[in-house]
Amino acid sequence: MEQVDLLILNASQVCVIPSEHGGPQRGSGLGELGLVENGAVAVKNGRIHHTGPTTDLQTRYTAVQTIDANGRAVIPGFVDPHTHLPWFGDRAHEFEMRLAGASYMEIMAAGGGIMNTVRQARQASIDDLVADNLPRLQRMLAHGTTSTEAKTGYGLDTATEIKLLDAMLALHAVQPVEITPTFLPAHAVPAEYQGRTNEYVDLVINDMLPAGAEWMTQHHIQLFFDVFCEAGVFDVPQTRRMMETAVTLGYRLKIHADEFEGLGGTKLAVELGAVSADHLVKTPDADIAALGQGQTIAVGLPGTPFGLGHQEYTPAKKILAGGGALALATDLNPGTCWCESMQMVIALACRYMGLTQAQALAAATLNAAHAIGRGHEIGSLEPGKQADILILDTPDYRQLGYRFGTNLVNTVIKKGKVTINNE
Ligand code: NIG
Ligand code: FE
Repeated sequence: MEQVDLLILNASQVCVIPSEHGGPQRGSGLGELGLVENGAVAVKNGRIHHTGPTTDLQTRYTAVQTIDANGRAVIPGFVDPHTHLPWFGDRAHEFEMRLAGASYMEIMAAGGGIMNTVRQARQASIDDLVADNLPRLQRMLAHGTTSTEAKTGYGLDTATEIKLLDAMLALHAVQPVEITPTFLPAHAVPAEYQGRTNEYVDLVINDMLPAGAEWMTQHHIQLFFDVFCEAGVFDVPQTRRMMETAVTLGYRLKIHADEFEGLGGTKLAVELGAVSADHLVKTPDADIAALGQGQTIAVGLPGTPFGLGHQEYTPAKKILAGGGALALATDLNPGTCWCESMQMVIALACRYMGLTQAQALAAATLNAAHAIGRGHEIGSLEPGKQADILILDTPDYRQLGYRFGTNLVNTVIKKGKVTINNE
């Protein structure tokens, strides 16, 4: 018998979530779970070694540690491919203003919104940022998120944007959730550049992007570069200028597009080979068609329209019908969507984006991993991948999405080690 480090036996279901030709599940292919009933998982050296029926794996392996899943479902750890961690402070008063009728963009135009969090983040030390954001990451992990993306964008000056990257490194080092960093100095036009957007774009191009590139060299980490391409923030030509510079400096691309108006940012993202295009609520049909032709992954963030009390969501069915690849994320941020739970996102995606539980699960794991360029390492239980595994508190994965507001994660295994046991 072969010795492994960890054996999980007697799972009612093991959802492997197989890659499609080594890539994300596209279009009508979304929702293939590779489900093994009465399944087991063998883990060796922090990686998935083998998945299959319990009766089979039981006779092949002995293990240092054995977990009896006892009729519960086993799925890959969730990957959250779009968050605005780290931030400092909160904006509960703006939520109150929105409840009284103010719109998100009105609050932003009046100098609040993102700029409010920027003022707080500029004052905060790295220790402050770690203290404020660590509990968020711990809650994410407890709800099954084993890897996440995180964005700067609350600095909007070179020093603070770099400080936010350093805070991500500090957070990455002190807890188990792996953080993939994104540089987002083009999140808003800061107050000191009000009415001078093109000058701020020049600052991003001439000062901030090179500073981020230096950080990449120093830390041997490739950053994503992201832009909030939106009416009243950065238009498509400005976005293109910044993105084209970013590519020459070695960044990979992401975009915030079509959250409030469809400007053509998604089409631009596909043209420039962006890894993902995110939000996509008001996306024009031509841009949806472009997603079906290109490699850019559409990331739906249903927590955001829900958080804003809006009625319109990412047109997932159209995107899938056009052959696009769809992922899900929280958009965790203090303005529009303070939601740490991918389980909640799945519940919203099933109701308002029309996804089945199986489609939402694949979008929140395998496709989410591809949306941060890590699809070859995480996001499924295929042999060789990192052993990031959840044991649910239920025998049927279809309770994800169906139930909401309670945590359905029983055990979180990160890189082959049990890190959370909610029992
Ligand atoms: O993705 N839309 C831009 N950025 C965030 C909100 C950030 C904030 O309001 O602090 C979003 O929704
Ligand atoms: Fe966002």
